[in-house]
Amino acid sequence: MISVAIVGATGVVGEMFLKVLEEKNLNIDKYTLFASRKSKGKKVNFMNNEYEVKELTEDSFKDEHFDYALFSAGGSTSEKYAKIAAQNGCIVIDNSSFFRMDKTVPLIVPQVNMEDAYEHFNIIANPNCSTIQAVLPLKALDEKYKIKRVIYSTYQAVSGAGKKGIDDLTQNKVEKFPYPINNNCIPQIDVFVDNDYTKEEIKMIEETRKILKKPKLPVTATCVRVPVLNSHAESINVELEYPFKIEDIKKYLNNFPGIIVLDDPEKLIYPLNSFANGTDEVYVGRIRRDYSQENGINFWCVADNIRKGAASNAVEILENLLKKDLE
Ligand code: A2P
Repeated sequence: MISVAIVGATGVVGEMFLKVLEEKNLNIDKYTLFASRKSKGKKVNFMNNEYEVKELTEDSFKDEHFDYALFSAGGSTSEKYAKIAAQNGCIVIDNSSFFRMDKTVPLIVPQVNMEDAYEHFNIIANPNCSTIQAVLPLKALDEKYKIKRVIYSTYQAVSGAGKKGIDDLTQNKVEKFPYPINNNCIPQIDVFVDNDYTKEEIKMIEETRKILKKPKLPVTATCVRVPVLNSHAESINVELEYPFKIEDIKKYLNNFPGIIVLDDPEKLIYPLNSFANGTDEVYVGRIRRDYSQENGINFWCVADNIRKGAASNAVEILENLLKKDLE
């Protein structure tokens, strides 16, 4: 009998956990939904049943055994409660940034490094949304041509900032973001750190290195919030070690699990947010040589940040762990 807890079940990512779990219908016998005190008793329709949301407390993982938990309730909730869950024998897949750079915690994108997930101490981290979609094409390129340097410029949707982020755009508020997101592109995601980068930029840099197992890879990033509801877009510039033919690169990218290449400039075909919304694939297009450097390439990469960038990636990790349990 497999029992799974969903922590943050009332949030944007939490609700998507439920949707993706319904779609996948994994071999799970029991689900328990947790959120903050505010949501205690709230009724949620899930798997053709009505579930009552429970308040997450220090005893939640002591009073009852859960085999797995999916957490998406912010870093401070994970810091406290994911640790308690792990200590009580529950395997946590955590969507917050809290554990991602911990050396004892695997940071996993199933299509890229699922093999790293099995050596865990009951906590596995789900990477940042912008990192997840970027590392699929980067891994595909690295396998054939070895990547030497990466420059990220992101165009990130408001849904990545949770329900409050969506409200800022749809209700013209200035509560979640420091400036009106309506009619602005805001070159700040998360807080600034000492070197004038934002934390989001640092996350992308460090997480890319960890997932690709290239601790010294030169990576830089500029992360921008744009007035788009859902799906992140990224312009990615890469310097490769070996020479390439563009046609081969398109082929390798398209053959990589989880990537769909949409690239036909003559027909004006390239990835758009609206194509990615509601799907789990990473769309890549505008693939072209960067003539300013040797073996340089530019491309455009779009994915649903709430699905592939968060909930679906976490559920895919769970799905693979469950499969492994059966071996
Ligand atoms: P709640 O809805 O009860 O506040 P989002 O990122 O979309 O705002 O969602 C955050 C999620 O994390 C929500 O489900 C929220 O529950 C949950 N959450 C926030 N703080 C806590 C907490 N201290 N304990 C449990 N869940 C929390």
